Formats: sequence, C-alpha cells, structure tokens
Amino acid sequence: MMMDDIERVMFTKENIAGMIAKLGKEISRDYAGKEIFAVGILKGAVVFFSDVVRAIDVPVQMDFMIASSYGNSAETSGTVKILKDLDYDIAGKHVMIIEDIIDSGLTMEYLMEILRARKPASIRLCALLSKPSRRQTDVTIDYCGAEVPDEFLVGYGLDFAEKYRNLPCIGILKKEIYA
Ligand code: IMP
Ligand code: MG
Repeated sequence: MMMDDIERVMFTKENIAGMIAKLGKEISRDYAGKEIFAVGILKGAVVFFSDVVRAIDVPVQMDFMIASSYGNSAETSGTVKILKDLDYDIAGKHVMIIEDIIDSGLTMEYLMEILRARKPASIRLCALLSKPSRRQTDVTIDYCGAEVPDEFLVGYGLDFAEKYRNLPCIGILKKEIYA
C-alpha cells in the first residue's frame, strides 16, 4: 500500500480541507466583484486546483500550463521550458497562478516573468505549500496554505517519480524510497 512508504503524515485530508476553506474565503473576499483567470501548473497542482477553485465564490476561468525545468530532476535550475502554454490570452485578466509547492521559487519566478509580459490586469500566486528555508528568489506567495520544513513530501498532487499523487493526505516520503 502507498501509505507503507510514508514516514509521517504531515497533513491529513481534514487538515487540507481546512486549509482550502481558509484560502477560498480569503480569495473570495479579495476578488469580490471580479473574475479570476486561474492558471494551474500541471501536473502537481491538479488535485489542489480542483479543490481550491470550488472553494472560491467568484467566477473562475480555468487554464493550464506545463513547465519543465532543465537540468537534473532533483534540483531546479531556473531555466524553464514551457511544454504546454495557456489556451487563452491573459491580457487584462486577473490571473491567479495555482501551484502545489514553492521550493527554490526559481520555476515560479521565471513563469511569472513570462506571464507578466502578456499584460494581465493583475497577477497573484496561490500555493498550497511553501518551503521558505529553500528559497533562492523573493517570489511573493499571495495565498499560501502552509509553510513546511525541508522534507520531501508526497501526496495530494505531489509526486516522487510520478507516484503518490493520488494519496489523499500529504506525508514525508521514507528516505529509503528515494535514496
Ligand atoms: P522550485 O522551482 O524549486 O520552487 O520547484 C518547485 C517544484 O518542485 C514544485 O512544483 C514541485 O513539482 C517540486 N517539488 C518541490 N518540493 C517538492 C516535494 O517536497 N515533493 C514533491 N515535489 C516537490
Ligand atoms: Mg510542480
């Protein structure tokens, strides 16, 4: 079973539901009277995306991007390749990027630069998790579910080698699995 590979559960599905409800309230309040153009970063954000958009009480348009960083797989290099771009033009839209976790922040810094150049009315970032101790950029997370320590997490969209994304909780992966 997948849970056998988990050292410790960091967020249960109830914890996550609480985080989503809180984010949804904040976002709905801040965007009252506006429409949000939500940009989900595939694939990691897909589970979080589908929950958080349903916790938001203003109209949400949905679009997706796939970004892949060059270099080795464990550390991001900051050079990002767009494997799938948005289907729509974001000029004049209130863009909200929805991401699973911000680690070094290099991927997001690069993506935001690309999206800002397309002249949205505004652009904000919503991330379920943040690892502040790993940050290498000053990317601002406007809506953040929780800050986490420097541990390798899986579940709720987060993967190790494409596995564990469908785990309903978020846990620390046992070292022996990835060492
Ligand atoms: P950054 O450019 O270093 O901020 O990379 C962020 C990306 O790294 C996220 O979108 C995740 O795909 C991945 N990532 C960072 N930390 C973890 C983790 O603990 N578990 C799974 N994926 C992670
Ligand atoms: Mg990702």
